[in-house]
Amino acid sequence: MVLVSSPGKLILFGEHAVVYGAPALAGAIDRRVYIKAIRSEDEEVEISSQGRRASFPLEKLAGRGSFSYVRQAARAAFGRLGESFGLKLDVNSQLQNASGLGSSAAVSVATIKAIYELAGREVGRDELAKLGHRVETEVQGSASPTDTATSAEGGVLFVKPGKGIEKLELGEDLALVVGFTGLKSSTGAMVAMVGRLKESYPEVVEPLIESIEALTYRARDSLIRGDQRELGRLMRVNHGLLEALGGGSLELAEKVHLALRAGALGAKITGAGGGGCMLALVADRREKVLRALGRGAFSTRISEEGVRVEEQ
Ligand code: MEV
Repeated sequence: MVLVSSPGKLILFGEHAVVYGAPALAGAIDRRVYIKAIRSEDEEVEISSQGRRASFPLEKLAGRGSFSYVRQAARAAFGRLGESFGLKLDVNSQLQNASGLGSSAAVSVATIKAIYELAGREVGRDELAKLGHRVETEVQGSASPTDTATSAEGGVLFVKPGKGIEKLELGEDLALVVGFTGLKSSTGAMVAMVGRLKESYPEVVEPLIESIEALTYRARDSLIRGDQRELGRLMRVNHGLLEALGGGSLELAEKVHLALRAGALGAKITGAGGGGCMLALVADRREKVLRALGRGAFSTRISEEGVRVEEQ
């Protein structure tokens, strides 16, 4: 038996633009997905999670439907290992799925790591992030490497697709509050929607993406310097640009403005948008912002640790 966990993430700056090669800043959070994995004698992968259960023959792990990320992750791990075996996987998540907190990336990374552990083989964080990214791309059509890299590595990452990943030393701890709209959102559908907008109006949408890119570089410097006032200001600009790209909704806008009114330095959509979560940088207004955001809101901080083996 092995128990592996992997953190969820918040995109601090740069979502959507990162799909077109711009950098993103993302942080791992102190909420995790836990995967308990046991080797079994049969030729099946049995998956259970919070009352749901399903079994899949080893040769039929691909495809859409239930537990698609776990199945595809098992397939990727077996493919890379060059061996496969029966498994029982139990998934326990502290992250709402389809809410912009990176639950699919955390599930994928933790599943792959658990299978490597059961096989008695080493795997580096880079390799885990790459395999996890492949899983996300296979299941949802397109994905940037941001979520899987953050879940594998932990900390705050400056992710430049195709050009590498830098782990940042923060000038100051970030006090963050997440508000949840209660609405699920499909990352694949939101990314496709921005893609269609960009295709219809390239001369309008490309400058928006370039602006997000520019503010993400600025935000990287502010994070390193620990200038939270500037970070907050940049968050508000990023929120507006995400609204312009079509990532907004009444529920998200309401929560962003409630957080600002309660004294947050900045607030924005985090992740794909449409539904899901927003994020507020709260400095010393944590309690006030939490109260203002109401049900589903939680306070969080950056987790320096990425994927880890909890028990063996
Ligand atoms: C999803 O958390 C963020 C997006 O930028 C998509 C991606 O990076 O794959 C919208």
